[in-house]
Amino acid sequence: MRVFIKTYGCQMNERDSEALAGMLSKAGYEIVADEEQADVLLFNTCSVREQAERKAIGKIGYMKKLKQKKPDLVIGALGCMAQRLGNELFQELPHLDFVLGTGQLHTLVPLLESIRADRRQVADLRESAAVLNEMGSHFRPTGAPDAWHGQIAITRGCNRFCSYCIVPYVRGREVSREMNDVLEEARELVASGVREIMLLGQNVAAYGLGGNINPPPPGVSPFAELLEELDRIPELLRVRFTSPYVTYFNDRLIAAMAASRCCCHNVHLPLQSGSDRILRAMNRQYTAESYWEKVCELRAAIPDLTFSTDVIVGFPGESDEDFEWTRELLNRVGFDNAFIFKYSPRPGAKSAALEDSVPQHVKEERNQILLDDLHSRVARLLQGQVGTLQEVLVEGVSPRNPARWCGRTGTNRVVHFEPVPGIEPGTLRKIRIERAGNVSLSGSVQG
Ligand code: SAH
Ligand code: SF4
Ligand code: F3S
Repeated sequence: MRVFIKTYGCQMNERDSEALAGMLSKAGYEIVADEEQADVLLFNTCSVREQAERKAIGKIGYMKKLKQKKPDLVIGALGCMAQRLGNELFQELPHLDFVLGTGQLHTLVPLLESIRADRRQVADLRESAAVLNEMGSHFRPTGAPDAWHGQIAITRGCNRFCSYCIVPYVRGREVSREMNDVLEEARELVASGVREIMLLGQNVAAYGLGGNINPPPPGVSPFAELLEELDRIPELLRVRFTSPYVTYFNDRLIAAMAASRCCCHNVHLPLQSGSDRILRAMNRQYTAESYWEKVCELRAAIPDLTFSTDVIVGFPGESDEDFEWTRELLNRVGFDNAFIFKYSPRPGAKSAALEDSVPQHVKEERNQILLDDLHSRVARLLQGQVGTLQEVLVEGVSPRNPARWCGRTGTNRVVHFEPVPGIEPGTLRKIRIERAGNVSLSGSVQG
């Protein structure tokens, strides 16, 4: 049996798909990259914006043709949108065989067996505690170009209920994995050649706090303890994480990051808005000022730290002045990267009750202003790196130019260089930066 998997949405979904592929191959299925070759088509979906849902529904709709040619084809919708729409999906997509929600992903293999034995439409949307640990198994195709990179989901779900966000409804309550399970997975990955690990969670720095939405008191941070334990795995060179919520960076966590051997000097710190009024309406538990103070504290402890962020433009009621606050704070922090989203009302999330009052063209305009700011700032920041010596984790042949290789600094900047004899992906090299482009650096390997 051949299975094709298409993934939408965030890195948590990517990681889930990887684990699903792992389960399927253990059970004797073969993972294929071409949908035309497959006997089973799986769509691991996202609900975060309307556009993400439309894409998946459009794609699954298009698969009807394949099913007409191959009536035995099994088609499944999994993950966040599957959880949100459930049985409704069968009305829109009558050729769909099953809908598997986020709490039942670990039951995919027996579900497929039962559908093949007895063809009927099935939706399973139940919550389950088992999904947390059962999704830990791994699939790393041998010879994958990024065999040096691995991802570990350390939490699932979210308890924060930001007013615009569907994630807490489709992913359920926030739960953390046991530290020993996480460490065991990390050691397994490292033994298989992984040198950089990305820790994943919707609220990753709240790891181990039992889903408490109030930040821990000074001195307490199970996430900091996890970083310290990971530091003790000698062949692990780098640890990254996404996404932390700003209020969880207390003294304990900042000190652990500053002292860490492998924690990268880059933090993705979602801001969403620089206007206190909008932040309150979003149910984000910080102000523009307290966010800025945290950035300063982090920079004082780790001077070369770089930041990236998420921003929503056009939240209901966002005025020109609110937008200017956001723009000003983005420029003040000097983000290296920003993912800017146009507000999309999500049925079921709190803010869907508010009028989506900012016209589409204003959302577009604000989006473009922030992108223009970002691009000119990044070009300037990269220019400032020329002449420096950077430690780079070698990734391999550059996807854009096969004559060059590329890698990344701990601060998450891409560096291109001429390969030298004996150079290997997944190793650290010192590179002298010679030129800066608009989005990346280039230089030469020093020894
Ligand atoms: N857990 C992460 C965010 C996960 S969703 C965090 O809190 O940092 C990724 C990003 O999508 C969010 O940071 C937000 O910027 C954006 N997003 C979420 N819901 C949205 C919506 N309804 N409309 C537009 N953007 C949205
Ligand atoms: Fe959504 Fe907020 Fe949870 Fe992030 S923290 S997933 S934005 S509810
Ligand atoms: Fe989308 Fe679900 Fe991730 S809604 S952003 S795939 S948690």
